[in-house]
Amino acid sequence: MLPSRLAAGRKIDSIALMFLSHLECTACGLRHEWQHLQNLCTSCQKPLFAIVDLAAASRTLTRETLATREKSLWRYREVLPLPEGVEPVSLGEGGTPLLRTSGFGGDVDLWIKDESQNPTQSFKARGMSVAVSMAKYLGATKLAVPSAGNAGGALAAYAARAGLEAHIFMPRDSPRANIIECRELGAHVTLIDGLITDCGAEIGRRKMKEGWFDMSTLKEPYRVEGKKTLGYELAEQCDWQLPDVILYPTGGGTGLIGMWKAFDEMEALGWIDQKRPRMFSVQASGCAPIVRAFEAGEKSAAEFPNPHTIAAGLRVPKAIGDFLILKILRESNGGAIAVDDKEMIRVTREVGASEGLFVAPEAAACFAAFKHLRSAGKVGSGERVVIFNTGSGIKYPNCYEA
Ligand SMILES: Cc1ncc(COP(=O)(O)O)c(C=O)c1O
Ligand SMILES: [Zn+2]
Repeated sequence: MLPSRLAAGRKIDSIALMFLSHLECTACGLRHEWQHLQNLCTSCQKPLFAIVDLAAASRTLTRETLATREKSLWRYREVLPLPEGVEPVSLGEGGTPLLRTSGFGGDVDLWIKDESQNPTQSFKARGMSVAVSMAKYLGATKLAVPSAGNAGGALAAYAARAGLEAHIFMPRDSPRANIIECRELGAHVTLIDGLITDCGAEIGRRKMKEGWFDMSTLKEPYRVEGKKTLGYELAEQCDWQLPDVILYPTGGGTGLIGMWKAFDEMEALGWIDQKRPRMFSVQASGCAPIVRAFEAGEKSAAEFPNPHTIAAGLRVPKAIGDFLILKILRESNGGAIAVDDKEMIRVTREVGASEGLFVAPEAAACFAAFKHLRSAGKVGSGERVVIFNTGSGIKYPNCYEA
């Protein structure tokens, strides 16, 4: 249920140029209208996807026209939900480089999509730019999010830019840099003695009374739309031939789910063929619900008990999109792999010294996982592999010795 003020709030009737058709439940398929603020499926409480009229979008959006557009995720405007003519809430997100590794990959063609170059130094900017734009357009005034760190920073920045209130709930032991960042961006920050799931529950309890719109991962339909631009950009940067393997540090899994959606959309647009990368979720040994469920052959993931890891973004014991993540890993013939914290720290310096990037520990986990997959023969010589450096190591000074 939405706060009554929001549910009653603004309703959009007619739009000139609009390619968003409707919202659809990822579990039961129930159709919802996009014209007012929505969270989960009203029938089964699972995430909603935005369904775009691709035939209409393709009249102006082609691979050729893209090449002439600004280097920002808003270059994919027709497949994003915000109506034409409405100014996006933007800080210059997207358009990040895809860098070929110089040494780390060995005999593998290893690339890094460097998402630390986004506003607020993480890929969370993509989701928040689109989701805050839509929330503002649909009449929300107060936005709330539970965050392990980077999502909070991104919401704080985009809400400030949009002139909206941000209410951020973080575990008390989140990286200090993230807490400071949120406060200095003018957000209302509440520290909770607990996990991100406890933060989410606190928002759930208070949102009706406070008039907050819940911006939690996959609990509103548009963060995933912003994240899907990772997939569009990657295809474009790889000259419309997707790589063989993708390694993605998985907490809530929005980026992985978003990319997969983008691949399907691009195939429907006729931009790519049926080939898909083998998708690997990388998690921390101290919090690996998806790895456990994948190995056990489960369709959804049980809550991971006593979760702990320095990679704050991976400390997500229960993800609402678990069933979508597991389906993608299996359909793509990929997998799930856990890495311990000590190895993340060690590999951070290896990547830094060899590639010139101070990667976030979540991404360092992917570099460690890459080594394991290579030595197990799950990644072959000469294959093209892409690792997402989802954020900057500079936000985690507490993890490293000075
Ligand atoms: C740097 C970083 N990497 C990865 C993740 C996990 O992202 P997702 O929730 O999309 O799986 C997070 C989430 O906070 C993060 O901050
Ligand atoms: Zn449903």
